[in-house]
Amino acid sequence: MIGYGHQYIDESDIKAVVDVLKSDYLTQGPFVTKFEQEICRITGAKYCVSVSNATAGLHIAVAALELGDNAEGITTPNTFLASSNCMVYNHVKPVFADINPVTYNIDPIEIEKHITDKTKLLIPVHFAGLPCEMEKISAIAKKYNLRVIEDAAHAIGSQYADGSYVGNCKYSDMTVFSFHPVKTITTGEGGAVTTNDEKLYQKLLMLRSHGTTKDEKLLTKNPGPWYYEMQALGFNYRMTDMQAALGYSQLQKLDFFKKRRREIVAKYNKAFAGMKYLRAPTEPKEVSSCFHLYAVQIDFNALGKSRSQVMQELRDQGIGTQVHYIPVPTQPFYKETFGYKDGDYPVAEKYYEQELSLPLYPGMSDEDVDYVIFKTKEFFA
Ligand SMILES: Cc1ncc(COP(=O)(O)O)c(C=O)c1O
Repeated sequence: MIGYGHQYIDESDIKAVVDVLKSDYLTQGPFVTKFEQEICRITGAKYCVSVSNATAGLHIAVAALELGDNAEGITTPNTFLASSNCMVYNHVKPVFADINPVTYNIDPIEIEKHITDKTKLLIPVHFAGLPCEMEKISAIAKKYNLRVIEDAAHAIGSQYADGSYVGNCKYSDMTVFSFHPVKTITTGEGGAVTTNDEKLYQKLLMLRSHGTTKDEKLLTKNPGPWYYEMQALGFNYRMTDMQAALGYSQLQKLDFFKKRRREIVAKYNKAFAGMKYLRAPTEPKEVSSCFHLYAVQIDFNALGKSRSQVMQELRDQGIGTQVHYIPVPTQPFYKETFGYKDGDYPVAEKYYEQELSLPLYPGMSDEDVDYVIFKTKEFFA
């Protein structure tokens, strides 16, 4: 079975984890810092805080901004639940702005339509690895005095139009990555928040660890070396050293992962060009995506088959597919809690009706890629 995504683990990854298991520290040891420094080196950000998963990272990133109870934040409907749930955890009302029909990313023009007196935050999501139009988004943020958190769960290794790397926070206050196994690099479960702001960095460190600090500069008193203070209500969102060692080892392969993902995408795009019922994704030429997903649009009505039928028939041929994403405001919780209804986000909803993600991961062999192309073309012929 060729799944839609899969981790790539080699002997060096296994050795890295086993070495930690044989060491003194399974958590809060040297690898966590080493991994965080490596993310800073790769992205160009000043600070990095690793966390237990990206949902936790988004939770504390919003919390660190201290937006208050009546704030609203804007994100895209075409995302995983975590991009907006993180606002709900923090009593920030999630508002959605429709997507661009070509990039499937949040449309900056739509963002401006949803800004009110209460809007305090933007959470653009680099869907499938494709960077959002961050220059425009950061200009909107400056104009209305908004904070920005980039949800880069899909986008480690991707580059903005200016060539710099997603995660450097030149357009945002913080950026959040996910290292779930289907993502570009993995730590099993895991995530990281990058920032260039020292105060936010200190706050994130605290919130990751029960709201506590041992930092002498931050303590209100210092009776001895055992002493710590809880200065905010935080969580246990720490990453283990096994995970961090795996993450560090995975980062050493990031260039290879990106190259291989882009090779597969180029091959797919060439093979699927001009197909009748299937539209390949578009990458604007200024940016460079690390392509977490290969999201195609299929005209199921014209094809005369439902998406479930297509998924089942491809599965019968050994090809796994997935759907990204059910628009978040159409979920029952969002409808009941915030009053969203079907039809509020027509571009994202139409996109969703036609979406299917085909297999894409660096461990696919050339034969796997050719097989997916052959079977997909045969199917649509
Ligand atoms: C866009 C996006 N944001 C956030 C997350 C949450 O990531 P995690 O599973 O690491 O909590 C995901 C996970 O799929 C995602 O796709």
